[in-house]
Amino acid sequence: MVNPKNKKLTILSGLSRGFTERSVPGSYMDDPETREAYGEYYGAVSLKKGRALSEEILRRNGADLMGQERLSIVDLGTGTGEFIRGLVSGLRDHIPASFDLLLVDRSKGVLEEASRGLGQVENLSLRLAVGTLPGFLSWIEGRTPIDLLTAGNLLAENGADLSGFLTLLRRVHDTLSPGGMMIFAEPADRLSSRALLFLGDELRTACPDLHILAPCPNDRLGSCPALRSPEDWCHEDRPAVFSEETKKTASVLGHIKDALKMTYLILSRTGDPRRLSFSPLIRLVSPLHREKGMAWGLFCDGERIHKLRLLNRNRTGDNRVFWHLKRGESVLAPWAPMDAGFNKGSSPFEDWPKEVPVTGVLRPNGTPWESSEEE
Ligand SMILES: C[S@@+](CC[C@H](N)C(=O)[O-])C[C@H]1O[C@@H](n2cnc3c(N)ncnc32)[C@H](O)[C@@H]1O
Repeated sequence: MVNPKNKKLTILSGLSRGFTERSVPGSYMDDPETREAYGEYYGAVSLKKGRALSEEILRRNGADLMGQERLSIVDLGTGTGEFIRGLVSGLRDHIPASFDLLLVDRSKGVLEEASRGLGQVENLSLRLAVGTLPGFLSWIEGRTPIDLLTAGNLLAENGADLSGFLTLLRRVHDTLSPGGMMIFAEPADRLSSRALLFLGDELRTACPDLHILAPCPNDRLGSCPALRSPEDWCHEDRPAVFSEETKKTASVLGHIKDALKMTYLILSRTGDPRRLSFSPLIRLVSPLHREKGMAWGLFCDGERIHKLRLLNRNRTGDNRVFWHLKRGESVLAPWAPMDAGFNKGSSPFEDWPKEVPVTGVLRPNGTPWESSEEE
């Protein structure tokens, strides 16, 4: 008899390969054993991502929308349901609203399974819609305005041609309530990340009242700079604690589970970009490298990437924040909004000038710098 643990690992290793090679069959979630294996491993991680993003949308916008008595939420590509469960239960912890939740997936079996997990959440009314996106649209017909549209790890399985999804999301945009949001989380790999960054650019162009609340600084001033070179992408590495079981499975599969890695986007139909444009930000989108004589990192201003360094000899009490920056943190841009940055001369680096203080503004998850306890 096959050891059930080994069987699960075999299934997960097939899934992992299939996700990487973009070759999972469309019906994979119809198989109960695959669903169980996916839920236990990938689902556990998705639950944390959903939770992290629930907290972030409360911080990034929230006030009006989250004050409503009922929230209408649609989750596309629900799978075993952990991502949306993390998000909704995270919201539940902070707001008294009740939820109308519609789950959409091409697998009927997986939706039934997801609904069992979500059935335990209080004040939640649930509907299921089975169909293959992006062509499947009947769930939108006659819907009341959508407050939150969510999708976790959906594009990665549909990434070759996103034009259909773009059409679908434009339809969704038309039904978004004022302040309504779209929240996407995809794997942190290059292809998945670029697909989502591309979708962000396209949506912003197609829907001028849609703003990028996170993670791009300054409402992504122009087209995403990571898309300019085919080798670039952009992702988050959030601190997270995983169970021993998850870490063991990850090490067998050759995955590194040291952080919550994802590419994500939070868009809002009326997110107010003026809030940020008063004080233009730059966001650290790489690790901070501390090397001989300097610390440096790649900073995005929403339009360009700047390879900024602080030389040791320029360190002062007023710029000490630079030395401790972590991926995803934002500081006040050291140049005026219309400037392109600092003149680089022949160096590949732009130098943070000694006389300009470094002012932290936001932690990676949108927490204001001054109200957080981190260094
Ligand atoms: C990788 S799982 C993600 C599940 C969950 N959202 C999460 O983040 O853990 C992707 C789910 O999307 C569904 N899916 C993928 N492509 C789809 C499509 N074109 N139409 C409908 N469902 C799709 C799959 O059946 C699967 O259940």
